[in-house]
Amino acid sequence: MSPQPIRHFLDLWRLDAATIRAILEEARRRKAARAGWTRGRADADAPAAGRTLAMVFEKTSTRTRFSFDAAMRQLGGSVIIANAMDMQLGRGEPVEDTARVLSRMVDAVMIRAHRHDDLERFAQVADVPVINGLTDRSHPCQVLADILTIEEQGGSIADKILAWVGDGNNVCASLIHAVGKLGGVLRIACPADYHPDLHDLARAGNAGSVQIVHDAREAVAGADCVLTDTWVSMGDTDHDARIAAFEPFQVDEALMSQAHPDAIFLHCLPAHRGEEVTDAVIDGPCSRVFDEAENRIHVQKAVLAWCFGGVC
Ligand code: CP
Ligand code: NVA
Repeated sequence: MSPQPIRHFLDLWRLDAATIRAILEEARRRKAARAGWTRGRADADAPAAGRTLAMVFEKTSTRTRFSFDAAMRQLGGSVIIANAMDMQLGRGEPVEDTARVLSRMVDAVMIRAHRHDDLERFAQVADVPVINGLTDRSHPCQVLADILTIEEQGGSIADKILAWVGDGNNVCASLIHAVGKLGGVLRIACPADYHPDLHDLARAGNAGSVQIVHDAREAVAGADCVLTDTWVSMGDTDHDARIAAFEPFQVDEALMSQAHPDAIFLHCLPAHRGEEVTDAVIDGPCSRVFDEAENRIHVQKAVLAWCFGGVC
């Protein structure tokens, strides 16, 4: 019998819709099953018992770091966390050698990388599942948590209009992949110089529709969900030019009033209040940003369970 292929979780565009749906359903099921439990209590089935996840961070993190750590504990496993600059990786040890070594020591690796290509190089030689914890090009774990949050309001994203306002960045790219696989309408309002990567549009699949506009009000009109992110991502160097270019793309109450009356607001966090979003919106009745942050744990658990051969 030939061995099962390693289940890397690198990008949503690499997975079929049924797999993405199964991961989301697993997240929902596990979240519901532990309602009211203390956060440190392990799930009854402990599918990661006896397994260790390594987490390698080339960039800072709060949500990804804590949610993967909590997720592994709830699945009955353990973690080893390292900043890349504390590893020989930070002194130039090749990505491939690091991947071969960690593959002998742990059961899965989550990486937050500056360069997406380094994540891909790592996965090409790793003998254990590799998970994308954010790169310059995508953030698939975040977008699964976003979809879980949107669908908790009722209905499928296939029947929703999503409005992304701001930078065509890594989170936006994964949202494009998600809509390409699962359906729905995604309207992206961004300045002309900050479009999403057109490769992402091309390989996203055609289950849904993606439109790019340059007017935030046009994108938000009648939308079920308005999403934004920082105007200056980790690694971006053109801070002042960005702040100037994105100024017309702030999500404020006037913009939210253009959306559907039941629309929700999402932000992957960390937020720069007063830049991409006002306090009134992020702290207001439409905001679901802390449900979204919590959902990172539930999604991470489902991704890990899938990587370890469960779920589907
Ligand atoms: N949203 C997100 O990935 O947050 P962190 O950068 O804190 O991990
Ligand atoms: N686009 C942001 C997301 C942070 C979670 C960044 O890459 O910095």
